Amino acid sequence: MLQGKHILVGVTGSIAAYKAAILVRGLVKEGASVQVVMTPLAKEFITPLTMATLSKNPILVDFFDPEDGRWNSHVSLGEWADAYLIAPATANTLAKMAHGIADNLLLTTYLSARCPVLVAPAMDLDMFAHPATTENLSILRNRGVTIVEPGEGELASGLTGKGRMAEPEEIIAQLDRFFEKKKSLLGKRMIVTAGATIESIDPVRFISNHSTGKMGYAIAAELAERGAEVTLVSGRTHLPIPAGVQRIDVLSAAEMYDATVQAYADADGAVMCAAVADYTPEEVSDRKLKKSDDDLCIRLRRTRDIAAELGRTKGNRILVGFALETDSEEVNARGKLGRKNLDFIVLNSLRDAGAGFGVDTNKITIIERSGEQTSYPLASKREVAAHIVDKIETCFIGPETPKSV
Ligand code: C5P
Repeated sequence: MLQGKHILVGVTGSIAAYKAAILVRGLVKEGASVQVVMTPLAKEFITPLTMATLSKNPILVDFFDPEDGRWNSHVSLGEWADAYLIAPATANTLAKMAHGIADNLLLTTYLSARCPVLVAPAMDLDMFAHPATTENLSILRNRGVTIVEPGEGELASGLTGKGRMAEPEEIIAQLDRFFEKKKSLLGKRMIVTAGATIESIDPVRFISNHSTGKMGYAIAAELAERGAEVTLVSGRTHLPIPAGVQRIDVLSAAEMYDATVQAYADADGAVMCAAVADYTPEEVSDRKLKKSDDDLCIRLRRTRDIAAELGRTKGNRILVGFALETDSEEVNARGKLGRKNLDFIVLNSLRDAGAGFGVDTNKITIIERSGEQTSYPLASKREVAAHIVDKIETCFIGPETPKSV
């Protein structure tokens, strides 16, 4: 997959810079054209001569050549690259990337690059675990940067833990997978709702449900990998934002309704995977409700059905819903398919082992408008997401026209 690809490798000042030499050699072996940009400190860890020899190209460090004043254009570097891979990426460079600091060529190139960006963090375990680094990585992930997770093992500090840069072979394999996916949904704007909503009773208590958002996040990741522009409207969760996905955080069903309806105006389709509260407290107390010896009665009112509203204004968009049922599964799912004007509905039953909340697997049946229904075996949520996105692809293409005989 890397044959003929232009890979720009960014090297920062980490002990792991020696692995960048193996990485560059591996990329060239795979048939990629490689250019290397280094931070000034990276030169202390590995010589430009080594990197230039392995990449077969001069190394770029400064904004201009001090000998003849020739300008090293960060813009044209970004335009040349099919991917920008920063490996190793130090905590310092990640922080600067997250905050738009542009005090070296590696960073100005990052800010102007339009190609996909991947980073392979390398640092001490405590630096990696520090909330500042976690937040910076989350900011970058949110902007679509792919993080090549570091491994666990012995670190330069002598400590053992997570922070070792991924091995060059692993990084190359990840880059390979990145190019492998066919971008069948390029140009399509998709919304995914995911996770549970939270309906406040008072400043302390709320009503919610057991949804963790795993299925919706897997669908958002799969859509993005196939080239779609994805807006993930998400209830509260601990899940990381999938690469290339833009996330809008919401809490209540009303907030999810507003964010989703607003994004829908420009969208080509939506997958309604969130477990949205059907009822919300009629009044939210602004003080903590005091307990008494009496029972407490909280009056709930209906929330608005987001999927039904999107169905009402559907037009040519593709609309997918979910039905999590405990009984009369198919009948209930078919009812929702019609009522919400969906293209298809994904049915999962809480009665199936391995399906439902929190687990990493799911077992689904897809029921289409035509009445056709397909059941899939128990599989990882990521594999299930691929089946769902395959079906979305066929919806965009439309039914195959029968060949004339
Ligand atoms: O009617 P029910 O809630 O079971 O339908 C489930 C489907 O409708 C799911 O796709 C869910 O995301 C969506 N839904 C919604 N807004 C609501 C309730 C459900 O979008 N208020």
